[in-house]
Amino acid sequence: MTKTVLVTGASSGIGLATVNQFRQKGWQVAATMRSPEKVTHRDPQVLYLRLDVTDGPSIQQVVAATVEKFGSIDVLVNNAGYALMGAFEACTPEQIQQQFDTNVFGLMNVTRAVLPIMRDRRSGVIVNVASIGGRMAFPLYSLYHATKWAVDGFSDSLQYELAPLGIRVKVIEPGPIKTDFYTRSPDIATRPGLTDYDALGAKVLPNMNRAGENGSPPELTASVIYQAATDGSQRLRYPAGGNASLLLTLRKYLPDRVFSAIIRRAIIGS
Ligand SMILES: NC(=O)c1ccc[n+]([C@@H]2O[C@H](COP(=O)([O-])OP(=O)(O)OC[C@H]3O[C@@H](n4cnc5c(N)ncnc54)[C@H](OP(=O)(O)O)[C@@H]3O)[C@@H](O)[C@H]2O)c1
Repeated sequence: MTKTVLVTGASSGIGLATVNQFRQKGWQVAATMRSPEKVTHRDPQVLYLRLDVTDGPSIQQVVAATVEKFGSIDVLVNNAGYALMGAFEACTPEQIQQQFDTNVFGLMNVTRAVLPIMRDRRSGVIVNVASIGGRMAFPLYSLYHATKWAVDGFSDSLQYELAPLGIRVKVIEPGPIKTDFYTRSPDIATRPGLTDYDALGAKVLPNMNRAGENGSPPELTASVIYQAATDGSQRLRYPAGGNASLLLTLRKYLPDRVFSAIIRRAIIGS
């Protein structure tokens, strides 16, 4: 029987590539995004649905519409997300709330809406797009890292309660990927008069943007997502592109002091 995947944040980057990947493999795809009216080249086999993951009622509607069209949901790809960048002190409470509402609570709420369907069938895969930034940190991304750390911990625990119900949980850990993540999508925090962090920002932001420019193509992450969704294994974490495996291995085996020195040297230049 043809399987169904629901993807969040499918308008660009990794989400869009994931839609294309599953379509190429013959899946039924619900591509959800905030502005489906902007999609110019529509695949007639794809169900395009409006979903802002911070909008609770629309989550239920999208899940219901997907089940009505395709009969069920086999795989959920929680991909929607963005980075709030800048000094922690410069971020407003609203910016911080929005970062967590999208990257953490949105992901949890979509998962909560899909779980009863998977539980009824004793089958399903939840694929959460976290980041290498869920297990290591770079300067001026404190709140983004806090969200990805949350996704990693949430997923790691969730796997145990869902495994007996036939539902697998996966964490995707992309390294730098060349998408709108570094250009159109970030929320850059600045506060008038707060200049003490400017020198750090001037060093860090060009280096992070360069990492994005030189990042792996999103199709590579999409193929890792497909692998995670279909390999039938109990494996939890999947590094994806942008030297993710190397960086995670260094993070795991180097002492904190040494790893932090490498980050300082590479990103701050001191
Ligand atoms: N690129 C990287 O280097 C990298 C590395 C590690 C992890 N990631 C993660 O990969 C995921 C995808 O990012 P990307 O690199 O593909 O960047 P992207 O091209 O900017 O895509 C982000 C997607 O998330 C959507 N989105 C943002 N807020 C949303 C909301 N409230 N509701 C629904 N959708 C929302 C965006 O929708 P709009 O088009 O409406 O803005 C867009 O479709 C993110 O979770 C990101 O944290 C990326």
